[in-house]
Amino acid sequence: MNVGERHYRTIWLSDDKRSVEIIDQRWLPHEFRVERIGSVAGIATAIRDMWVRGAPLIGVTAAYGVAIQMADDPSDAALDAVWETLHKTRPTAINLRWALDEMRRSLKPIAPEQRAEAAYRRAAEIADEDVGLNRAIGENGLKIIKEIAARKKPGEPVNILTHCNAGWLATVDYGTATSPIYLAVEAGIPVHVYVDETRPRNQGAQLTAWEMAGHGVPHTLIVDNAGGHLMQHGEVDMVIVGTDRTTANGDVCNKIGTYLKALAAADNDVPFYVALPSPTIDWTVGDGLAEIPIEERSGDEVSLVWGKTADGRIAQVRVSPEATPAANPAFDVTPARLVTGLITERGVAKASREGLKAMFPERVS
Ligand code: MRU
Repeated sequence: MNVGERHYRTIWLSDDKRSVEIIDQRWLPHEFRVERIGSVAGIATAIRDMWVRGAPLIGVTAAYGVAIQMADDPSDAALDAVWETLHKTRPTAINLRWALDEMRRSLKPIAPEQRAEAAYRRAAEIADEDVGLNRAIGENGLKIIKEIAARKKPGEPVNILTHCNAGWLATVDYGTATSPIYLAVEAGIPVHVYVDETRPRNQGAQLTAWEMAGHGVPHTLIVDNAGGHLMQHGEVDMVIVGTDRTTANGDVCNKIGTYLKALAAADNDVPFYVALPSPTIDWTVGDGLAEIPIEERSGDEVSLVWGKTADGRIAQVRVSPEATPAANPAFDVTPARLVTGLITERGVAKASREGLKAMFPERVS
C-alpha cells in the first residue's frame, strides 16, 4: 500500500541481496522507520519484540531468516537450528511454523551449495503469494460488503468494526481483514470503520488507525469496551477480524478481546467474519481452546503505555501502581459457533470442519 506517494510492502530484500528491510512498526504512527536486518539473531529479535507482527508477516520474515542462515551456513544442521530458533520467537501464530516448514521442505532435497539462492527465491515467492492470497480475500469479502450496502439507504456507509491490526502492516500487502475494506473504498462503496484500540499494545490505535488515515478510509477509534454498546444501538453492520491460527474445526484464535466482540455480535445479530489466508489454518488442531498455545507476554505491556509526548518524544508512561502485577495473555479463542463465516482466498467458508472441508477438500480427511 502507499505511504505518502510511495508504494511499500512491509518487507523486502535489501540492495545487498542478502539482508531484508522492514517497516519497524514499534514507532508507528508517530515515526515511519525502516530497519535493515542481516542476521538470524536480528530476525528473531524483530519477530519476538514485534518490530514486525501479524501472523502472515511473521511467517514471511521467518522465511527470509532461513534464507539469511543459508547464506551463512547451508548445512542440514544449520537448517534445523534456524527452524528451532525462529519457531521459539512467538508461539501462537501458525504462519510462523507454516513458513519454516515450507522453507525446510523445499530446501532439504537441494544440495547445500545451492540452498542460499533457492531459499531467497522461495522466501520471495512466499511473500508474493501472501499478496495474492490477501487480494483474493479482499475480493471475496467485498461481495459481503456489497450485499450489506445494497440493503442500506443510498450513500449510507456500511459500518465495520475491526479489532487489532489485520491490515497491510500485518501481512506483506493489503492485509486480511482490511483487504475487503480497501477494495470497497476502491469500488466507491461508502464504508466507515470502527477501530478497536486493542490494549495492551494498541495495534488498533497505532497501526489500523494509521492505515485507515493513510488511505482515506472514514474511521473512528473506540476503546475496546465500546463495541458491545455500539452493536446494541445498531451502529455496527458487520465485524471483520483477522486470525493468528484457525483450527480445522473453525475455532478462531486472534488478538485478546476478539472473543468478547464475537459474543456481543452474536447477542446483537451482527455478522462476525474472520478473514484468513489458508496458511493460517492449522489442520493438525481441532479444538482451539484445548490445543492452541496462547502467548503470555510481559506484564509491562499492560502497565506501561507508549505514546508521543507534547514535546514530540516517543515515550512510555506507567498507568498502574508499581507494585501491581499484570497478566498479559496475548490471544483468545473464539469458538466456531460464534463465527458467521471464514473469508478465505477461495471463498467464504462456514466455520466448521465440513465448511473448511468443502473449501479445501485436499486438506481435510
Ligand atoms: O500480536 P500481533 O500484533 O502479532 O497480533 C496480530 C493479530 O492478532 C492480528 O489480528 C492477526 O495476526 C491477524 S493478522 C492478518
